[in-house]
Amino acid sequence: MLEVQVSFTSKCESLNVAERFGDAVPIHGRLQKLTTIEGTMTISFESEDIGSNNSDNRTFQDVLSKFVSRRAVLAGGLAGAAFAFAGSKVSASGIEPTKRTASGVVAKARPTIGFTSIPLQNSPMPTIAPEYQFKSLIPWRTRLDGKGEFPYGLTSEQQAQSVGLGHDGMWFFGDNRKGMLAINFEYGTTPHFAAGKAVPTSLEEVRVSQHLHGVGVMYVEKGPKGWALKKDKRNRRVHVNTPVEFSGPAANSALLVNTAGNAPQGTLNNCANGYTPWGTYLTCEENFNGYFGATDTSWKPSAEDARYGVTATGFGYDWHKYDARFDRSQPGYANEINRFGWVVEIDPENPKAKPVKRTALGRVKHEGADVVVGRNNRVVVYMGDDERFDYIYKFVSARDYKKMIAAGKSPLDEGTLYAARFNDDGTGDWLELSPRNPALASWTIDKVLVHTRLAADLAGATKMDRPEWITTGADGWQYGTLTNNSNRGRTGQPGINAANPIRQNTDGHIIRWKDSDGNLGGTFQWNLFLVSQETFDEGGQMFGSPDGIWADRDGRIFIQTDGAQPGRNNDQMLVADSKTKEVKRIFTGVAGCEVTGVAVTPDRKTMFVNLQHPGDGDPKISNYPAPFTGAAGPKPRDCTIVITRKDGGIIGS
Ligand code: FEO
Ligand code: CA
Ligand code: CA
Repeated sequence: MLEVQVSFTSKCESLNVAERFGDAVPIHGRLQKLTTIEGTMTISFESEDIGSNNSDNRTFQDVLSKFVSRRAVLAGGLAGAAFAFAGSKVSASGIEPTKRTASGVVAKARPTIGFTSIPLQNSPMPTIAPEYQFKSLIPWRTRLDGKGEFPYGLTSEQQAQSVGLGHDGMWFFGDNRKGMLAINFEYGTTPHFAAGKAVPTSLEEVRVSQHLHGVGVMYVEKGPKGWALKKDKRNRRVHVNTPVEFSGPAANSALLVNTAGNAPQGTLNNCANGYTPWGTYLTCEENFNGYFGATDTSWKPSAEDARYGVTATGFGYDWHKYDARFDRSQPGYANEINRFGWVVEIDPENPKAKPVKRTALGRVKHEGADVVVGRNNRVVVYMGDDERFDYIYKFVSARDYKKMIAAGKSPLDEGTLYAARFNDDGTGDWLELSPRNPALASWTIDKVLVHTRLAADLAGATKMDRPEWITTGADGWQYGTLTNNSNRGRTGQPGINAANPIRQNTDGHIIRWKDSDGNLGGTFQWNLFLVSQETFDEGGQMFGSPDGIWADRDGRIFIQTDGAQPGRNNDQMLVADSKTKEVKRIFTGVAGCEVTGVAVTPDRKTMFVNLQHPGDGDPKISNYPAPFTGAAGPKPRDCTIVITRKDGGIIGS
């Protein structure tokens, strides 16, 4: 055990602490404890390696010690490097609070996270911290006309007028008692809605599946019995057959036109989301590749198909067998695939406005779109592309977003797209994706925006461990979840790097970065916020596979999981302190479900989160939102959960 004690007098002193550690103390072994008590910092190391990496690749510790020594001097933040190993009870400060430009709110010194952290659990019902309560809202099949629910076995027409399946990212546009809740519906295969069927056997069954997908914009109101959906002329479903339009630099590209002449329609695999300062909702199309297939057995994927994972069979939706739009071997629909993979803007107040696919934001497997207002009122959008070894992106609007709107232009239609390169020294570079980049000099801008992954490959972006959600903290840093990547460092696969430092990363990590020049700059500094395998609670690992993430304006980071949790327990939601890295568990979902999506009322006293695929649809596992009665009970249904604090306080406190 090595223990070092350093005195300091202010946060700025952390730079000196970091310098001393980086150069004088080789960091090998697990960081055991770190405390700050009245200006004295004690850091202890156990002289034992934490990994079992026997390859020639650099170890996590090697990367870390190199990373600390360079990055600490540059950024003055030991927190981001060594503290990432410190588990859930670290107390230190490494990041100066800065204004979050979108809200103009300065971070508090310390947010209150006063609730009682609950244990992991594996049960058919959700659990919540004792200071909190929850109720379910709008499960699948809830009618948008406020008249209850359609029964199981609903028609495609009924499905187009009711709550979809795969509740995921969402945002709430309203006041503290009422407003429009916009929710993504990510998926819905035949077994979800047709008992005993694995694949569709008719166009009508394909249409049901298609109408399960998309977005719901629904008026919800708080009444004596809690929140409920009410009839409203703004209530709306957007699905795979809804007319949409393209906007931005690639809108008129030949790459988005089919010889069949069909107009653009639909959105699908709507995963995470964003929301804009001008009051619109952004829905993000993720695994669009899985909905396409080929009926002609001689069909071969193009290089672009291969890069986006398009195959002859898809994910098993089998839409292509009944709907030519999704058949890659239909020449008339050769470019239909290029119409998916976008960030789509929806006006929650205008049900007649077509959803708009914003081509300037590029075409990838978009997880989410975190919008912040940068210097000079230019909007900046941070986006992850969720695939093993894919990239993080940002878009910067060309001008002041208010002036662009006043001139009748969308701030999301003119600007510059970048992909991130994370350097080992804790710095990073935003690589421009346009013909101005010499690596893309022979490309046209529409080709860059339609085949964005291939452009980012040429630009030299850093291959990440599945970028999922991104959020902007009260400290002005972006926090991005890297959910896992079991292929990292395997034979024939990309090895570790400082930003993705775990071989066969089964549990994921959370990275954060701070852009230069008020979010407009071409460079950034970064560090690791939490490494899932290094978060401990009463001796056990706290979580794995972070996915949903949302920062409130007090410095809390809400983390949601999607994947294997320690001890095969249920997915969950946690609350972390962005400064101290203290983590508490506030909510656990039901067995088989993913906890995803987070939205709040303006006073943050009501929070909406989603349970996706509770019980994996199996009543033997869960009947939620019905009470658990087992196999004879109803099939569990995807739904929203409304969380309040029993004393009416702010969620997370
Ligand atoms: Fe739809 Fe990457 O989660
Ligand atoms: Ca996700
Ligand atoms: Ca996920």
